Amino acid sequence: MSVALIILAAGKGTRMNSDLPKVLHPIAGAPMLHHALNAASVLEPAHTIVVAGHGSEQVHASAHAFDQAVDVVLQEEQLGTGHAVNQARNALAGFNGDVVVLFGDTPFLQPDTLIRMIEARRKHDVVVLGFDIAEVQPRYGRLVMDGDQLVKIVEYKDATEEERAIRFTNSGLMACDAETLFSLLSEVTNDNASGEYYLTAVPELATARGLSVTAVKCDEAETLGVDSRTDLAGADAIFQSRARAELLDNGVTMMAPDTVYVSFDTVVGRDALIEPNVVFGPGVTVESGATIRAFSHLEGCHVSRGAIVGPYARLRPGTELAEDVRIGNFVEVKNATLATGAKVNHLSYIGDASVGEASNIGAGTITCNYDGVMKHRTEIGARAFIGSNTMLVAPVSVGNEAMTGSGSVITSDVDDGALAIARAPQVEKPGMARKLIDMLKAKKARQSRGS
Ligand code: UD1
Ligand code: MG
Repeated sequence: MSVALIILAAGKGTRMNSDLPKVLHPIAGAPMLHHALNAASVLEPAHTIVVAGHGSEQVHASAHAFDQAVDVVLQEEQLGTGHAVNQARNALAGFNGDVVVLFGDTPFLQPDTLIRMIEARRKHDVVVLGFDIAEVQPRYGRLVMDGDQLVKIVEYKDATEEERAIRFTNSGLMACDAETLFSLLSEVTNDNASGEYYLTAVPELATARGLSVTAVKCDEAETLGVDSRTDLAGADAIFQSRARAELLDNGVTMMAPDTVYVSFDTVVGRDALIEPNVVFGPGVTVESGATIRAFSHLEGCHVSRGAIVGPYARLRPGTELAEDVRIGNFVEVKNATLATGAKVNHLSYIGDASVGEASNIGAGTITCNYDGVMKHRTEIGARAFIGSNTMLVAPVSVGNEAMTGSGSVITSDVDDGALAIARAPQVEKPGMARKLIDMLKAKKARQSRGS
């Protein structure tokens, strides 16, 4: 049976106090919406529809940046979760598989849970995902069960005292075949305490039709919703502790894991060593046996086996380090490829460049890649030796086994095996230093007598 996803993301998220729509706030470097889409990708959906409202253009752009096809429909006025699902009706015209509704602001949903819901859907007409709350909270709808049958969901505002005491609550997720769902939604009214068209009215309407409605249970932590910046920071912290634990389990060494920040897609191989206070932005892969030393910041880069990065290094997007490369302190690398065994050990900027095998880049070297309007490339061959404080004014190339003299400003290409020196020649004036000092001392003495 094919599956269509409807992800509700039209709400304003007032408590976030932000211009950014709530579902686009990031956790571990990815918008919450992408976390939800990622979890749901286990269902291999035939259609994915995001219902957007507040900040719909931004939501649209973010949904399209996700690496699977996503349609975005607009809910102009936020008249409730049932009304929101209804906005996907036209987009799903003719679709006769199952619909799974989920919220864009529940980033911790586990793929297994979605599978359990779909499995339950084979035996029941409507399946809702519920969880037991530890403490009674007004924010969730209550699931009123009769054995396996979910009789109805009552929103807290509409519930009796007895119903409010129920601990089994609604996560918001629902699975139902498309035709039944949209037919039930046509019967939903806004006759309730909030004056909204509730999605949660569906189970009661289904029960009245004699359909089989049930609830699947998950852990409370999975359905954790994010409504405020505090929730967002808490969610990120939860993500971090899970991701670090996973890295440790996979054989990564971290002496102070709590100080390492990882992104949603960070990949680190077995026996890699991550020292304290390292930040992984999105898009980083570190191979087995590489070392990332303290206080380094990496994003959009690949570090191969045996490479050592840092301390205090910055690897920006497009950095590709081959095996046994060394990147030392206060070195920034961007959009550059460094071949096996290349070294950039101190105080350098290597941007829009390629550095050949076993080349050594001296301290303070800078690839001058930007002319104020355009970016240009620097190509350095294999086994080249770039003297300290060389300015490589791109576009420029330095050949295999070539050298540049320290302090050179290299503006033309250097041939294989050549030594290029581009600095003012040294001039020596015998005795001049002492003479100069004597002159200056005499001048100072005259001035202090005069004052
Ligand atoms: C909802 C459920 C409640 C459940 C809780 C779990 C309903 C009526 N209530 O309540 O039973 O326990 O979630 O967190 O469904 N949205 C839209 N358009 C709208 C309204 C909402 O897209 O018109 C989206 C929001 O952006 C959000 C999601 O739907 O992603 C849930 O809406 P929210 O207002 O947070 O519902 P709750 O009151 O939390
Ligand atoms: Mg909510």
